[in-house]
Amino acid sequence: MIQYVLGIESSCDDSSLALVEINSKKLLDCLTVSSAELQNQYGGVVPELAAREHEKHLILLLQKLLEKHNLTWDQISHIAYTDHPGLINCLLVAKIFAQTLSLIFSKPLLPINHVYGHIFSPGLSQKLFFPFISLVVSGKTTAFYFVENEKNITLLEETLDNALGESYDKVARKIGLGYPGGKKIDELFDEKLVVISLLKNQLSPQKPISYSGIITAANILWEKIQNNASITDKQAYLATVFQKFIIDNLTNKIKYWLCHKNVSTFSIAGGVAANSYLRKKINDLKIRKMFAEQEFCQDNAAMIAYFATWLIKK
Ligand code: KG4
Repeated sequence: MIQYVLGIESSCDDSSLALVEINSKKLLDCLTVSSAELQNQYGGVVPELAAREHEKHLILLLQKLLEKHNLTWDQISHIAYTDHPGLINCLLVAKIFAQTLSLIFSKPLLPINHVYGHIFSPGLSQKLFFPFISLVVSGKTTAFYFVENEKNITLLEETLDNALGESYDKVARKIGLGYPGGKKIDELFDEKLVVISLLKNQLSPQKPISYSGIITAANILWEKIQNNASITDKQAYLATVFQKFIIDNLTNKIKYWLCHKNVSTFSIAGGVAANSYLRKKINDLKIRKMFAEQEFCQDNAAMIAYFATWLIKK
């Protein structure tokens, strides 16, 4: 009988459930409901609100998933859930849900590191080549990892302050694009537009990652251009200045870590990995690339169940 790992994700504003076949590591299905639209009116995620949405959605998604594939609990071998990092009250919903199912149906539980799920998520659609440098860029995380295998994942560096997605969201809110704003900035970005550089000098790749100064510079520039009649589409102008600076400098960081660790395979995952300019810049690098599919860039349970299959001893 084919056996599946059930994955549960609820670390932020996406409630998600997935089934991954334990031996082939192939995804059967992933169902996700996001509460981002509801959060939009507050300009960011309200943890209490997100947790209540998870509580509502997870049970409905489970019913839907089992019915859709006509599955019984005999076909589910393990229950994997996002254990950390994430918003604590959101994480607790998946944890209690997973523990309850585990108790009722006598299934082993696998608490999964959400970031490791992101790191392995390119494997949902392609073969993974080890070792590799992984960049995880989401609304909560901006970090480089050296990945030798599923057991040896070393953090190389992470942002000192804002995550990349968070920086996009803050700038997007400032210029009136709402939450989440990363995709909207990306859509307004126009590489052909002639713009100034956000800061006079590019950042040194040897220096730690920090985005607070860049956000402040973008805010100041936004105020400055309000009275500039020659800039017709002010949102597109600011989006282009911001995205060009932040992604060009991130690309320099990527090159730095590949060279420093002497590794020729690079992987990228997390919500901001969907960014078109970032993807283009990485595509231009002469290295082996492993991209998470667009649909698995954002938080999802497929990556949680998939990473769990790497941890299960056969
Ligand atoms: O991984 P993810 O779904 O979950 C969180 O960490 O919350 O990432 C969401 C983040 C948000 O900050 C969103 O603005 C950003 O990813 N994002 C993007 C793009 N699509 C989503 N940022 C830049 N460009 C995009 N195309």
